[in-house]
Amino acid sequence: MWDMNGPTPLVEELLALGASEGLSVPARIAVPGCGYGHDAARLGSLGFDVTGVDFSPRALAGARARYGEAVRWVGADWLEDSLPPFDALFDHTCFPSFAPERRGSVVAAHAGKLRPSGLWLGAFFSAVSRDADPPYAIGPAELRRLAEAWFDVLHLGEAKRSHPARAGREFLVVARRKTDGTAP
Ligand SMILES: C[S@@+](CC[C@H](N)C(=O)[O-])C[C@H]1O[C@@H](n2cnc3c(N)ncnc32)[C@H](O)[C@@H]1O
Repeated sequence: MWDMNGPTPLVEELLALGASEGLSVPARIAVPGCGYGHDAARLGSLGFDVTGVDFSPRALAGARARYGEAVRWVGADWLEDSLPPFDALFDHTCFPSFAPERRGSVVAAHAGKLRPSGLWLGAFFSAVSRDADPPYAIGPAELRRLAEAWFDVLHLGEAKRSHPARAGREFLVVARRKTDGTAP
């Protein structure tokens, strides 16, 4: 049984999808909204050059307490602060934590923190138990519509390795940042 207090098995599922698009060790991967750092640390253990980003000092203290300096931890506001460009983003619970009216800004922030042709590896909830609080659900068609402002969507499909409590309610996206246009 997968421990909710550990990395999601979607790390491996999304990495396999990313690998088919050329993602390989030691790519620079950012984990926005990394929280206690479970997914970031897992990616680091696989040999990637990982930066976990969170604006909560408490979250980063928790990440350091659990994983030490196994990966780089950065205190920053993902929507407001500048960071060096990454090869890929691993976004498991970041996008769904933002209210629907902020989604366009999140997609722009993702694009702005990736190098041209960088990959967004994302997991999303197509249904949630309570609509009024995060995480917020989004349908695949709406996610595609938002992403296509800055990304070419390469893969969009149901997650196969969700936690049993989330089975059938998660879908995955791999999208490549467009090379034309100026990054936001
Ligand atoms: C649902 S939690 C992430 C949990 C994490 N993926 C894990 O496995 O432990 C969402 C995180 O996003 C962070 N967050 C929300 N908005 C943010 C922003 N604008 N910039 C940086 N971090 C943000 C929160 O502080 C929180 O730690």
